[in-house]
Amino acid sequence: MIAPSLLSANFLKLEDEINMINKSKADLFHLDIMDGKFVPNITFGFGIIKQIKKVANKPLDVHLMIDEPDRYLSEFKEAGADYLSVHYETCSHLHRTIFAIKELGMKAGVVLNPHNPVELLYEIVDDVDFFLLMSVNPGFGGQKFIPRTIEKISKLRNKIEQNNSKALIEVDGGVGLNNASQLADAGADILVAGNSIFGSDNPLDTISKLKEIIK
Ligand code: DX5
Ligand code: ZN
Repeated sequence: MIAPSLLSANFLKLEDEINMINKSKADLFHLDIMDGKFVPNITFGFGIIKQIKKVANKPLDVHLMIDEPDRYLSEFKEAGADYLSVHYETCSHLHRTIFAIKELGMKAGVVLNPHNPVELLYEIVDDVDFFLLMSVNPGFGGQKFIPRTIEKISKLRNKIEQNNSKALIEVDGGVGLNNASQLADAGADILVAGNSIFGSDNPLDTISKLKEIIK
């Protein structure tokens, strides 16, 4: 699947950008929620998500980069999240958080920062709907892909298969046409792309090309 990250969209023309994604071959809208504490940047909250939900015709994949995400799980559901992911680094009781997300009726995802070993996720392979491996340090769009992520994807893919789990692997940060096939070969299921889509001359065409690679 392809999940364009609206972080790189033109917010003055957000409705046009959403309509472009609506008619594209993309599968999800990736929304980055940052609190200025867990990550050194602040984005947007419930009001904007609700507005996006009114126009978007594909599921919303909401990536929380906030401390203590448990405080707000039901608010994100109400705002329109379909997929909700929390960082491993922000949850003391991750297992409880995953099940709370599922009970609210959303797909539950766990995100891992680049410095953390992928083995930290092994105990929850049977519990989550998807994993999100960060391939840049979270906080900003347009950063350079960290190549070691490829090995982490392969390891996680093997573990998922060993367990007969249905968990998907999403990759986020510095993803584009230059590395998409490597990521797909390593076992990625969902590619998040911000700058490589919205910064390209023809976003619709870039999405089609990415989709061709990952399907
Ligand atoms: C970074 C965000 C990403 C970001 C990706 O913290 O989680 O979703 O928008 O942007 P690109 O694809 O430009 O690296
Ligand atoms: Zn993201």
